[in-house]
Amino acid sequence: MCGIVGYVGPRQAYPVIIKGLQRLEYRGYDSAGIAIINGKINLYKKQGKVADLEEFVIGKNVQGHTAIGHTRWATHGEPSDRNAHPHLSRSGEIAMIHNGIIENYISLKEELTNKGYTFKSDTDTEVLLNFIEDIYINNGGNLEEAVRIALKRVVGAYCILLIEQKNPETIIAARKGSPLVIGIGKNEHFLASDASPIIEYTKEVVYVNDYEIAIVRPDELTLKNLGNEKQTPFITELDLELDAIEKSGYDHFMLKEIFEQPKTIFDCLRGRLNAEKGYINLSGVEKYLDEISNAPRIIIIACGTSWHAGLVAEYIIEETCRIPVEVEYASEFRYRNPIVNKGDMMIAISQSGETADTIVAIEKAKEQGAIIMGIVNVVGSSIARISHTGVYTHAGPEIGVASTKAFTGQLAALMMIAFKIAFYKQTISEERYLHLCNELSLVPEKAEIILQQNDSIRLIAEALKDSSNALFLGRGYNFPIALEGALKLKEISYIHAEGYPAAEMKHGPIALVDENLPVVFIATKDVYHEKIISNIQEIKARKGKVIAVINENDTVTPKLADHVIVIPEADEIIAPILNVIPLQLLSYHIGIARGCNVDMPRNLAKSVTVE
Ligand code: G6P
Repeated sequence: MCGIVGYVGPRQAYPVIIKGLQRLEYRGYDSAGIAIINGKINLYKKQGKVADLEEFVIGKNVQGHTAIGHTRWATHGEPSDRNAHPHLSRSGEIAMIHNGIIENYISLKEELTNKGYTFKSDTDTEVLLNFIEDIYINNGGNLEEAVRIALKRVVGAYCILLIEQKNPETIIAARKGSPLVIGIGKNEHFLASDASPIIEYTKEVVYVNDYEIAIVRPDELTLKNLGNEKQTPFITELDLELDAIEKSGYDHFMLKEIFEQPKTIFDCLRGRLNAEKGYINLSGVEKYLDEISNAPRIIIIACGTSWHAGLVAEYIIEETCRIPVEVEYASEFRYRNPIVNKGDMMIAISQSGETADTIVAIEKAKEQGAIIMGIVNVVGSSIARISHTGVYTHAGPEIGVASTKAFTGQLAALMMIAFKIAFYKQTISEERYLHLCNELSLVPEKAEIILQQNDSIRLIAEALKDSSNALFLGRGYNFPIALEGALKLKEISYIHAEGYPAAEMKHGPIALVDENLPVVFIATKDVYHEKIISNIQEIKARKGKVIAVINENDTVTPKLADHVIVIPEADEIIAPILNVIPLQLLSYHIGIARGCNVDMPRNLAKSVTVE
């Protein structure tokens, strides 16, 4: 949610910033802007994508060695040139970019308005900037101190970067609740919301913590807390290759990431699951084996696609481990008065590890004595750091805004956790445990077989592309997959879609069924199979168009359905991880057929760091 980049050092800053903004564009693409110091601050900003900004600056002065850049996901104020970041202070001598929300900006604005300040934009950012400048004017022009004093008054979330005309070789940065990584080069520093703009220059990074201020010069990085005490920067080595954040010949990141799944699922299982020897070794679980096994209750919190992974986990954990599980939206949990008892286990699922609601929900449960296990993709992210323990999904950077490989990585990690605990608790037999381990180990090769259906799925997409609505139905382990299939379709193609438990369809959605309504059934072999066939009959009887995901030896469904997608059979507990893949491809191709920007769907952002 908003991407920020900064550079100080000997290079021309403009190319570094533009490339960085392109890499961060998945975080927001309502507008983009850059401020560069070259004697004075030159500032260029434009509504639209980074490419629009690049076109806008053609022929303008973009020289300079210190710069900050921003790609925006609008919160306060519509997407427009004037609301785009960076913002300039009233004097024009300080420029700032911001990711987050200043919740008390109205009272700060009133204070400033009473002092005669006027504002050019509708943003909370411009208010904070002028609040900082107001303190700066009164403290003799010490920007670092002005930032520190101002932030003590701020309620909300922020990652801010500021440059000032009179100190052309310094960037002041601060964070609370929104991520900031600083890359350390030779006599140069790179600042960004995540490591992707930094990786091609250096692998040494510092993750800035909440309530820290960084004073960044070409040859010096100083970290302080809001009490003005120096903090020791903790330098970590990035485990990320440039290749992982490029399209590598695919038309879109989404397609690349769907096709990466055999490998990313394998990477998640690698070194952890040994089906032959029958063991699962997860260091994050090992440490808490007794606590998890004896937990009276597991609470799963997440948002979006990660929440769907949580729902699948609920079915699997209750079935195999016999521990009661509740799955909650983090945004609901954080504002309710939930009952959390000491010893309860919270599993927080997040691709980015930065989702604001999930972070606050974790903090709330932690205060009440829960043990937190993070299932996170981005190494070193906030959720990874605030959890007691965790399991990384190792799916690699996910750039497409609609989550695909992160979801299957989450399922693989959650399945390993469930099977490990179940075997330890002896709530499943050794035979069943070994069977599940073996079935899970076969997922990467079965995923490969599903991807070979890409062309036939594209043809089905052609037939569905003009629909206005769609229904996704599944039962049991596949009900959450129906939700995920529907979410993917609406995100990518803007077709209204709903996911439903197939049996529940009779209590409402069936009223929508006519010859124009596509109904996607997840109808692979499981205990519900006969029942789902009856549900298909009910839709056909009302002339709905049926698309069914089925297994190879199903001879009944092809006679009923208009289109079938045939995929390899798996144990019903494992099947969700495979069944989602054809739905991802279907959404992708429908989105493409409708001319949508599948990597950057309108209004969405990859990482939601505001509540
Ligand atoms: C956004 C993304 C989704 C993601 C959700 C939760 O809505 O567009 O793809 O599932 O946030 O994000 P997280 O990083 O916590 O999994």
